[in-house]
Amino acid sequence: MKEHVLIVDDDQSQCDLFSMMLERHGYLATSTTSPKEALERIAREPCDVVVTDLGMTEMDGLELCERILGTSPDVPIIVVTGQGSMDAAISAMRAGAYDFLTKPIDAKILGLSVARAAQHHRLNSEVKRLREEVSAPASEGVVVGESSAMKRVADLIARVAPSEASVLIHGETGTGKELVARAVHAASPRQAGPFVAINCAAVPANLLESELFGHARGAFTDAKSQRQGLFVEASGGTLFLDEIGEMPLEMQAKLLRVLQERRVRPIGSNQEVDFDARLVTATHRDLEVDVEKRRFREDLFYRINVVKIDVPPLRERGGDVLKLASYFLGRFAERSGKGKLSLSPQAAERILSYNWAGNVRELENAMERAVALARLDQITVEDLPDRVRSYRADRFLLSADDPKEVVSLEEIERRYIYRVIKILGGNKARAAELLGLDRRTLYRRLEKYEGRTNHRSSPLEGAVGDTQ
Ligand SMILES: Nc1ncnc2c1ncn2[C@@H]1O[C@H](COP(=O)(O)OP(=O)(O)OP(=O)(O)O)[C@@H](O)[C@H]1O
Ligand SMILES: [Mg+2]
Repeated sequence: MKEHVLIVDDDQSQCDLFSMMLERHGYLATSTTSPKEALERIAREPCDVVVTDLGMTEMDGLELCERILGTSPDVPIIVVTGQGSMDAAISAMRAGAYDFLTKPIDAKILGLSVARAAQHHRLNSEVKRLREEVSAPASEGVVVGESSAMKRVADLIARVAPSEASVLIHGETGTGKELVARAVHAASPRQAGPFVAINCAAVPANLLESELFGHARGAFTDAKSQRQGLFVEASGGTLFLDEIGEMPLEMQAKLLRVLQERRVRPIGSNQEVDFDARLVTATHRDLEVDVEKRRFREDLFYRINVVKIDVPPLRERGGDVLKLASYFLGRFAERSGKGKLSLSPQAAERILSYNWAGNVRELENAMERAVALARLDQITVEDLPDRVRSYRADRFLLSADDPKEVVSLEEIERRYIYRVIKILGGNKARAAELLGLDRRTLYRRLEKYEGRTNHRSSPLEGAVGDTQ
C-alpha cells in the first residue's frame, strides 16, 4: 500500500509541483491550499506524512503544525519555507516539526526527507501496536458476566482485594479460577508487583519444595546454582498456588510453617529469607471433605481459607453464557481477520441449553472452532461441536453407562422444572402446583437458574413462555 502524503501550500502551483515530485517517488500525494481544510481531512482520515508551507495567510505553518500534533501526535510534519532563516527553522522544530526544508526544493531532497519521515511514522505505529499487543493479555483478563452468580463473585473480588487476607478460590474445571486470582491481584494494592503462579499438580512432589522455597547451590545433585524460590520472587506481589488440593501432605506441613513464620528456608541453606507475598490458592476439590478424610491438613485449610470465592459453573450463570460466547466470538474473529460474527438464534438456543461440563474453557474452545468453520457472518448450529448440537436438555436419565452423562441432582431438578413448565405451555402457576412448590419458590429458582439480569432477553425464556 502506498504511503499517503498530504501537501499544504496556499500556492496551487507549489502544491502541484510537490505532488508530482512525490508521486514520482511512489507516494500517494494529495494537496490543499487551505490549512483549515487540511485539519479537517486529517481528522477524517489520518495520513502518513504532512508537508506544509510556512508562510500562509489563512493560518501559518507553525500554527498548523501545532494543531495537527494536538490531535494526531504521531504524524511527522515537514515544514517548507521560502525564507531560509535560522529563526524560522528553530520555530518550526519547536512547534514539533519533523524536518525543515527551504525553497527552492530539490526533488531528491524532498524525497529523502519524506522517506525518513514515513519510516519514522511506520516504526512509531509498529511500536505502538506491539505495546498494545503486549498489554492485551490484561484486557483479555476481563471477567465477563452479569448474572447474579457472577456479580457475587465480582463483589467479593472487590471487597477482598484491598486486604492482605488469603483467598481460596473454588470451582469446577474451566470456570475461570485463575482469571479470578489475577483479578484479585489486579485490584489489590500489590497490582504493580509480580503475579507469580504455580500449578501444584503439575510439579513433581520432589521439586515443589525447591520451586516454592528455593535452594542453595549444591543442595542436591542438580542444584548447580542457587535458586530463589517463588515465595521470594512474588515479594511485593501475589503468589498463586493453583490446585493446592493436590499438594502432598508432607509439603502441606512445610507450607503451613512458612505461612506462619512468613519466612522461607531454601533447601540446603541455613539462612532464612523473609518474603512479602500475598497468598491466593485455588482448587476444584472439596477441601472440607479432604480435611475430613485427612487428605488435607485442617490447620492449613483454615490458614488459606480466610476468604473463599466460589466460582459458579457456567450452567448456573444463565444468560452469561451468551455474553461470553459473543465475547469469545469477537476475540477469535478479530484474531483470524474475519469480520463481525454473530450467533444465529438456533445456535444461541443450543448454547444456552447445553450443560457445559468443561465450563468457560469448553465454551471458549467451541467458539474458536466455530469461528474457524463459519462461512458467513453468522455462526449456525452446524458450526457447533456435535456434543453441543445433539445435547438434549430434557434427557434426565442415563441412556448408557457413560459416567460423562452423570449430572448433579440440582441440574436434574433444573431440567425437570423447565420441562414441566414447557409441557404446560408456560403456565408457571400450574407448574408450581404440580411440582408441589410454592409459586414464589418456583420463581426464585427460575431466577437463580437464569441469572436475574438477563432473564428477559434469554431465548430459553421464549421457549418456556411467560404466561402465569
Ligand atoms: N468470566 C470470564 N470471562 C472471560 N474469560 C473467561 C472467564 N472465565 C474464564 N475465562 C477464560 O476461560 C479459560 C479458563 O479459565 P481459567 O484457566 O481461569 O479456569 P480454571 O478454573 O483455572 O480452570 P482449571 O480448573 O482447568 O485450571 C481461560 O482462557 C479464561 O481466560
Ligand atoms: Mg486453572
